[in-house]
Amino acid sequence: MKKKILITGGLGFIFSHVTEYFVAKGWDVVVIDNESVGSHPEIIDGSFKYYKMNVCENAVIDVVLKEAPEYVIHAAAISDVDYSILEPHRTLLENMNGNIVMFEACRLLPSLKKFIYVSTDEVYGECEHLKDETEILFPKNPYSCSKATGSLMRLAYGSTYPSMIETTAETRFCNVFGPRQDTRKIMPLIKHSLHSGEAIPLHNEGVGYREYIYVKNIAPAIELILEKGNRTYNLTLNDGLTVRQLIERAEKVTGKKINTFPSNRAGMDLKYQMSADRIKTELGWKPLYTFDEGLEEYLKYEI
Ligand SMILES: NC(=O)c1ccc[n+]([C@@H]2O[C@H](COP(=O)([O-])OP(=O)(O)OC[C@H]3O[C@@H](n4cnc5c(N)ncnc54)[C@H](O)[C@@H]3O)[C@@H](O)[C@H]2O)c1
Repeated sequence: MKKKILITGGLGFIFSHVTEYFVAKGWDVVVIDNESVGSHPEIIDGSFKYYKMNVCENAVIDVVLKEAPEYVIHAAAISDVDYSILEPHRTLLENMNGNIVMFEACRLLPSLKKFIYVSTDEVYGECEHLKDETEILFPKNPYSCSKATGSLMRLAYGSTYPSMIETTAETRFCNVFGPRQDTRKIMPLIKHSLHSGEAIPLHNEGVGYREYIYVKNIAPAIELILEKGNRTYNLTLNDGLTVRQLIERAEKVTGKKINTFPSNRAGMDLKYQMSADRIKTELGWKPLYTFDEGLEEYLKYEI
């Protein structure tokens, strides 16, 4: 029997790759997406079932129950920090409502084997030391706050509805990069600058320290969690660097110069760094690509 998975946000940067991964594996895939910012409707090719819907609508619960998937991933969200700072009300309302609808849908879904709520390293706020999954959440901008609401819902649903302890998991990714990423993010900006010679904005002098993971590492990790995980899992390669160092690394890989101009962002955490020990030791996760392998493939072979 084919396994059935429903993915919200399955047309977006990261989860379009996940959608294609499970289609290629022969799974029965259902995607719910409203084709807003970050979406790639060009991947719609009849190989998966598609509902163009806003995940905040209660009617999404009916769709989930009608489709009766065994696996559900909730990744649909307004994912742009800068936009969330300009439009906190809309970002909080939409991401939180989407979370409520999907937690409710999964609570009511008899066929459910695993629900993954997709969160982010940003829920930890400033990371002056490596954060593991037991750390307090300390979101510092509207986007991270909206994502943290789902992390809290996971705790509340797991404690209140016993079946959801076994069937619900959460991921917290570090910065993901790769094909189809929003062109305003740092990696696509770097790539564009390498290609065009145009200068790119450098937030807060490039001191922001981030960990990066290539998008092709994500789908196999998600599959592993669907099979074996029922906790929260940080996902990172612990290969962190400042934005300035990232630019230098990209210059070294390509042998080209990248020009920048100064820019500032409010609510910016200086450092995100997490421990990925739990997913490695408990689930045996091994990344397919190191940071350098991912960077090289992304910068060199797709320009
Ligand atoms: N990009 C990263 O580095 C990163 C890191 C950690 C966590 N995440 C999380 O991973 C998920 C995907 O991120 P991404 O960078 O691929 O985002 P993205 O913006 O590229 O894609 C989001 C997708 O969700 C859809 N969407 C948004 N709001 C919706 C709504 N209300 N109803 C239906 N569909 C909606 C969009 O149309 C789009 O296809 C998000 O939940 C994000 O918070 C991303």
